[in-house]
Amino acid sequence: MMEDIAVLQKLIDESSNIVFFGGAGVSTESGIPDFRSVDGLYHQKFKYPPETMLSHSFYVSHKEEFYEFYREKLLLKVVGTADVSKAEPNAAHRFLAELEKAGKLSAVVTQNIDGLHQAAGSKNVYELHGSVLRNYCQNCGKLYSAEDIFNSNGVPKCSCGGDIKPDVVLYEEGLDNDVMSGAVRAISNADMLIIGGTSLVVYPAAGLVDYYRGNKLVLINRDETARDSIANYAFHGKIGEIFSQLHV
Ligand code: APR
Repeated sequence: MMEDIAVLQKLIDESSNIVFFGGAGVSTESGIPDFRSVDGLYHQKFKYPPETMLSHSFYVSHKEEFYEFYREKLLLKVVGTADVSKAEPNAAHRFLAELEKAGKLSAVVTQNIDGLHQAAGSKNVYELHGSVLRNYCQNCGKLYSAEDIFNSNGVPKCSCGGDIKPDVVLYEEGLDNDVMSGAVRAISNADMLIIGGTSLVVYPAAGLVDYYRGNKLVLINRDETARDSIANYAFHGKIGEIFSQLHV
């Protein structure tokens, strides 16, 4: 891996407009399980398949059960409690924030909804699937925090009586157009694209990587992905560990 690290460091040294495209694997070293790994959320047993419970139609028809699953499986680690420590940014998030601060990285494009890139200091973050940190009343639009949702019971209600919904893209829902076009623009202009911690199986997010036009496409993933063949350089390992061996 040492020789790989030297190659990765050289690619970063020679780039000044890097874009990072990431997924749940970026947050596993912060203690948040991913979805499709063997220890991921989608391999746990529930009354309904998790991907059903995270769909728009389930949210509409089974709102109480949606929130029970959402609080325990998607909010708990982000908000934290006396017994469950709040997830903090790890070396991967921190390194990307340092690259941006040094003017070498122009954007993070993430499928994650945990807000950890911004918590690490990243400013230009395209959240393709939204964020649990933003919640809004479906009636009057009033905003609520993740803590407001976590500390409420059943279906969270606005002061106006309306239902509060997380600003998270559920299955069957579209992605935000401005976020998508910003991410496409950033990736199209990048001199280096680093893809990390994602299985690249969910579209349209995964399709964005095809807008990259350079020859420095680096893939850093613990397991093989559906798209390893598009990478100019593929590294299999833990992204936080790999990034912690690099310098800006
Ligand atoms: N370092 C590098 N890679 C890792 C690490 C790590 N520490 N931990 C896990 N991985 C890799 C796994 O090998 C896996 O290939 O990250 C990938 C995570 O893949 P998924 O669990 O499928 O997560 P993701 O690609 O983000 O899923 C995309 O699916 O359910 C939807 O909306 C949800 O945004 C999510 C989307």
